[in-house]
Amino acid sequence: MSDLQQLLQQLMKTNVTKTVHRELYPAILPSRPELSQAGKVVLITGGGTGVGYAIARSFVQASADTVIIIGRRVDVLATAGSRLEQDAKAAGTNTKIVTRPCDVVNLGQVDELWKDLATHGITVDVFVANAAKFTEPKPILELGADEVWSQFEVNAKSPLYFTDKFYSQPGDKQKFLINVSTASVHMTAHPGVAMRPAYTLTKMTGTLLFQLIAQSMPPLKMQVISFNPGAIYSDGWKAISPSFRPEQFDNVELCGGFAVWAATKEAEFLHGRFAWAAWDVEELSTGEVRKRIDEDPYFLRTSIVGLRGGELQA
Ligand SMILES: NC(=O)c1ccc[n+]([C@@H]2O[C@H](COP(=O)([O-])OP(=O)(O)OC[C@H]3O[C@@H](n4cnc5c(N)ncnc54)[C@H](OP(=O)(O)O)[C@@H]3O)[C@@H](O)[C@H]2O)c1
Repeated sequence: MSDLQQLLQQLMKTNVTKTVHRELYPAILPSRPELSQAGKVVLITGGGTGVGYAIARSFVQASADTVIIIGRRVDVLATAGSRLEQDAKAAGTNTKIVTRPCDVVNLGQVDELWKDLATHGITVDVFVANAAKFTEPKPILELGADEVWSQFEVNAKSPLYFTDKFYSQPGDKQKFLINVSTASVHMTAHPGVAMRPAYTLTKMTGTLLFQLIAQSMPPLKMQVISFNPGAIYSDGWKAISPSFRPEQFDNVELCGGFAVWAATKEAEFLHGRFAWAAWDVEELSTGEVRKRIDEDPYFLRTSIVGLRGGELQA
């Protein structure tokens, strides 16, 4: 096995739950009635490709009223939009698909987007912060301040700006915020992760941002969960090595189903925490893992490893 193949396999290893999934499974099936998104408007940044598209598709299958996908490339959005319309037909849902070109770091365009939604009386119920910037594998100081900062703009500032708009919409219906994070935030020393420190830094910033927003936010107002979608075959992986094959990766439906589940009250116990789509949600919700979540305020949250002090009760 090549070094790259080994790295990929290591990146997919996890032991938080005994059962680790690589495919969609019944508890997070978007068509499960308990996970229904009927009556909900869902907005997904980067919803035209990869993980974002898979999440959009799952919300369509979960009968969301409207799914809005955001990206910069008009043609990519248009193709994704018509595929989602076909998905809605195939699933027998009446989900309305809205494609909206917008550069998420262009605050004027973002303001215009939210103004338009408000003008049309559309209130977003679920916001999925998914768009991300990736750069070449280089140490931070070789990338330089401007390039590193541009990653902060997409991976941290833009999610904050969107959240501000999302949260300040009128009405008091419960909101759900799903942050697409990455396993890189807790595997910082792994060679496959260490080669892209700016990505880790900025995704970690985004993840901590949502953890801290959740800390002072009752979940009944806005439930906030960050998750690692898994290793999902994408253009980024293709660029790393043409030797990777799609079947070596997690099935993309897994992260879509997990995102829908995370946008329901069943996932409330994960408010403010980070999880993997691969972890079995029934095991997470019950037994030893659930006990640890309820008792340890630092478990599945960002902190400095190995320290204790000022012990807290959950
Ligand atoms: N694939 C994996 O194995 C993996 C693993 C862990 C975490 N993730 C996370 O999953 C998320 C999606 O990644 P992916 O693998 O699906 O990659 P991807 O296909 O490249 O998705 C990135 C999406 O974000 C959009 N985007 C980027 N910059 C934008 C901007 N300035 N304004 C508007 N849209 C922008 C892109 O569309 P445009 O270029 O058209 O704007 C694209 O649709 C990211 O948060 C990533 O950190 C992925």
